[in-house]
Order: sequence, then structure tokens, then C-alpha cells
Amino acid sequence: MRVVESLFASASLAVAALGLVSTATAQSITFHKDIEPILQRSCQHCHRDGGVAPMPLVTYEQVAPFAGLIEYKTGIRDRAGAMPPWYVEKDIGIQHFKNDPSLSDQEIEAISRWARTGAPEGDVTDAPVALAFDDSVKWTLGKPDLIVTTEDFFMQAGRPDWWGEIARAPTGLSEDRYVKSVEIVEVNDVPSAGSGRETVGGRYIFHHMIWRTEVHDEDGNPVAGQTVNWPVHEVGRNPDIFDEDAGRLLRAGSVFATDSVHMHSNGRDTTGHLEIGFRFQPRGYEPKYKPSFLGLGNGVDISIAGDEKDQELHAYTVLNEHTKVITFEPHLHAPGERMCLEAIWGYTVETLSCVGYDHNWVRGYPFEDDYAPLLPKGTILHIVGYFNNTDENPNVPDPRNWQGSGNRSVTNMFIDLGIRVTMSEEQFFEAMEERRQNLDLGPNDHVIGCPLCLAPLIAPVPQTAESADDLSDDVAFQGAE
Ligand code: HEC
Repeated sequence: MRVVESLFASASLAVAALGLVSTATAQSITFHKDIEPILQRSCQHCHRDGGVAPMPLVTYEQVAPFAGLIEYKTGIRDRAGAMPPWYVEKDIGIQHFKNDPSLSDQEIEAISRWARTGAPEGDVTDAPVALAFDDSVKWTLGKPDLIVTTEDFFMQAGRPDWWGEIARAPTGLSEDRYVKSVEIVEVNDVPSAGSGRETVGGRYIFHHMIWRTEVHDEDGNPVAGQTVNWPVHEVGRNPDIFDEDAGRLLRAGSVFATDSVHMHSNGRDTTGHLEIGFRFQPRGYEPKYKPSFLGLGNGVDISIAGDEKDQELHAYTVLNEHTKVITFEPHLHAPGERMCLEAIWGYTVETLSCVGYDHNWVRGYPFEDDYAPLLPKGTILHIVGYFNNTDENPNVPDPRNWQGSGNRSVTNMFIDLGIRVTMSEEQFFEAMEERRQNLDLGPNDHVIGCPLCLAPLIAPVPQTAESADDLSDDVAFQGAE
């Protein structure tokens, strides 16, 4: 198998070098051998019977008619409209994310060549084992340990948007448990694929929900200090994975509560509810790090001109604790097109990540454990938002309008909702040491998002004998003794 692949790779390289497409090479890209594995990994979770996408992409007969459209959508890569809906730019910033469904350049190229050479089926014996789609596949991260179900909501076709409170629901949990990840899916009675719906917005009625868990006293009132806020649910959102060392506590006897649900009509009478899936850390687990509550965004100065593209907004915050950035989650509204996250520490100015933005698909990007930025206190976090308020952007209802700040989709937000944790001095040094070992970093390496990982861990050389004593007391990064 290996030999065959490498022969194929060198053959296609030779062809590429000559600028030719030989039939021999073209024929070697087939559905079963090359395309089906990509679809299984990155597409079928949504594109299957009962999935969120408009059509299944499982069998050859289902996929072949869409070959051209698949080439187009995967070729968009990191901008609104791309498939899969994941918009990390691959030529800048950190490239290691958990649950990353994106396609490599080679895979995008393979799809394109396959589509342009008549989408051949190839040999069925090359096909990977078909995936089994039972009800559990709706959970991207695997079946949850606890599922909490909200009450059913009826949304009439064409009814105006609705905001409000839905009934509290007991979690039924009888012991405290730390949560590893939380994933929310909407379950409704919209028929599955083939029903003519076109977007996630046409599939779902829950637009978003800001929610928490509470512990109640005998009178049903929340007990102070026992409320936990969870990441907001939004249509088209992927699951939230907490840091391995910063699980979030779901308390025994907690009750799901929300007073901020936004419902919208999807154009047909629909009854639906949310299922909240929690995955737990093992019993006895204790988190090491505390959540950071630092805000990063600007809701005051938003001013987006009508009929103009390439508009930028900037916001800054200073970290007052050593901080690990767990996820990057741009939150913009309709004209939002892109966001970059930058860390400034002393002379070190680094782009940690740039991602495209599609207001139909609000995504969070969890960094892999060994790549999550480790930033010393004093670092300035800077976000840059890029807006396209013209009719090139299909998410904008009327680009002639000036847009300011506000809650509705025709007004704007500019926030990084990402999860961050704070670290003590000791934890920070320990994490940097771990990073150096895991990534096998030497003195000449560079690693994005860890400005002190490779700084020499020695105190600055004192200027005079007297100042040496003073210095040694207040030098912050004296070394990882
Ligand atoms: C997270 C769910 C999800 C994943 C993963 C996903 N899709 Fe989609 N796809 C959708 C939805 C929903 C739509 C409808 C348009 C929209 O809402 O953006 C769609 C639309 C499309 C369309 C356009 C259909 C049309 O009629 O315009 C194509 C083609 C497509 N997807 C291909 C793919 C391919 C190929 C992959 C994997 C490389 C993929 N998708 C991964 C959910 C998904």
C-alpha cells in the first residue's frame, strides 16, 4: 500500500512539473480510494441521512453529481461558504487544533483533480469500511455521560423572532462532577436531507441560548455562589472542549436555567428542543487552573460604514495574570469576515491565529494542548476584526446601512469569546518546561504563542555590585527553580 502511494505521489509530481495532466494519473484519483476517506473524516458527520446538511455525501451515487460543487466549496478553504465550515488560515499562526476537520492542500487538490477528470468511481475494494450512522453520531465528541433535555418549543412558520425564558430542567446529577466538554444539539421535527432546506438557519429554530446551571434551595431559589455559566449555544456551533486541567464543575442537584433564548422561524411549523451533552472527567479529578474572566472585545466604538469593505476594528486588553489561551472564538455579526488574535509582549509581536468568519457558522477553535498560547502577565492581547459591509457578503441584509453596536444581527458585536485560564507563577514555569520537553524545543527553535518558552531562564546581569542584590528580589523570571 505504502509503495503504491509513493509511486503515485512521484508520478503526479512529475506530471505537475511538466504542467500536464496525463490520463494515467488522473485515473488514479478515484472516489473509493481517495475521496471517500476524506468525506468520512470531514463531511459525513453532517452530510448523511438525518444530518444537518442538505444532502448526504455517503455513496458514490450521492456524491458524484456534486463533484463540481464539492470542488468549489472545499476550494474556498477559510472564507464564508467553505466546506467543511472551519475557517482557520493555514499560512499564519498556530496550526494545531482539537477536532480539526479541515482538509490539507493535497486533499483539496485531489478533490479538484477528481472532479475535473470525470469523478471516477474506481474499485470498490479500495473503499474504507462504511461508517455506521446511529443516533449517537450527532455527538461529534462521542456519546455524552449526561444529557439534559430542554422542554419542547413550538415555532410557527413565519412567526417573528422570539426572546425569553424557557423552563428550568433538573440535570438529575447526584454528585459533583467536573466537565471535560459540553456539546449542544437541536433535535426537531424538520424532515432530514432532501427536504429542500438550504442552510443551517433553515434547519433549526434555536438561534442561540445563554445559559447556566444553578443549585436551588427548598423554595426553588438559586443558592448564592453555586451558579456556573457555560459557553453560549449558537446555531452552527461546534462543541466546547475545556482545558484538561481546567474542567468546569457541574454540581450535584444542579438545574439547567436560561432567561435568554432567541428563537427564529425556519419557514415551517417546527417543534424542537436542545439536548445538552456533558462529558465528565474521571471521579476524583481536581482542576489545576482557574478560569480567566478577562473580557476581550469592544462594544462601544463599533462603527461600520455602509457599502464598504475591508473595514477594521481593534480591541486590546492587558493580561494581569499568566494566562493560557484554550480557545479562540471570534464573535462578530453579519458583516464580519475575519478575525486575528495577536499577542504583544515587550518587543515580541505575534499573530496567534487568523480565521475567516461566517455569521451562519459560529465556530470556536480549541488549540491542541501542546500549542495553546502560554502568555506571561503583562502581555497585551489584540484582536483585529475585518468587516465587509457590501453586497459581496451574502449575510448582510442591506449593505447600504451604517451599523453600530447591539444585540441583533443587523447590529454588531466584536468580541473574542474564547476560553482562557490563569496560572500561578509556578504553574506557568511548569507548563513552559512541559512544552519544551513535549515539543523537543532547543535554543534555536521558535514556538508561536510562548514568548518566554525559549527565553534564557536567568536573571538579567546586574549593572553594579550593589544593584545585584536589589535586582535578584524583584526579577520576575528568575528561572524555574
Ligand atoms: C458541520 C456540518 C457540516 C460539515 C462537517 C460539512 N458540511 Fe457541507 N454543508 C453543511 C450545511 C448545513 C450546508 C448547507 C449550507 C450552509 O448552511 O452553509 C452544507 C452545504 C454543502 C454544499 C453545498 C450544497 C448546495 O446545494 O449548495 C456542499 C457541496 C458541501 N456542503 C460539501 C461538503 C463537503 C465536501 C464537506 C467535507 C469536506 C462538508 N460539506 C462538510 C454542513 C456541513
